[in-house]
Amino acid sequence: MSSVPPLLDVILQRRSRERFDASRPLAVPHLVSLLEAAHLAPSSYNLQPWRFLWTVRGDPEFDRVLLALDPGNATWAASASALVVGGFTRVGREGRPNPWAEHDLGMATAQLVLQAVASGLGAHPMAGFDTGRLRTALSIPTGIEPMTVTAIGWPAEESLPARERVPLERVAVRGSWPPPEER
Ligand SMILES: Cc1cc2nc3c(=O)[nH]c(=O)nc-3n(C[C@H](O)[C@H](O)[C@H](O)COP(=O)(O)O)c2cc1C
Repeated sequence: MSSVPPLLDVILQRRSRERFDASRPLAVPHLVSLLEAAHLAPSSYNLQPWRFLWTVRGDPEFDRVLLALDPGNATWAASASALVVGGFTRVGREGRPNPWAEHDLGMATAQLVLQAVASGLGAHPMAGFDTGRLRTALSIPTGIEPMTVTAIGWPAEESLPARERVPLERVAVRGSWPPPEER
């Protein structure tokens, strides 16, 4: 009988870190490799609805993105080396709306995050930002919907809380959905 392969190290190691080494820059080709990983994600009808805007520490846009973040996020994200805005276009096949755009942006972002972990980086997605402010700050046109900002940086010493997850059986069910009394 074949044994069950262990979970991938990158999946086990990945955490939403809040401390980065701000003194260590991230080379642009390295960041681009994370975007390449994102861009290889599967998508409905291969529409690739994700759109990424990226900026590295030192760019004027980096500070502008920080200013659009909720203050609680801006405090720690300021130590990141790069900030990646993840957005999507809703335009689908034959001009119809693509209902899976957010799903596919999520898949691409997951690949970006795991590729970051594989190269020794930390990557922390955030939804806590002011969309209007971000739109203005980066000239994001109508038709591109920003969904997340992912902070990427070199992990610094940090004591992380234990991972919290609801039991797997509650979110992954074999067969039909159980009756209410068994959920
Ligand atoms: C779409 C999305 C939005 C998130 N928004 C924020 C945020 O605004 N601020 C924050 O500190 N963490 C944010 N997180 C991180 C989650 O809080 C984190 O993934 C969750 O607590 C599980 O912890 P872990 O990533 O370390 O496993 C977000 C994650 C996702 C996927």
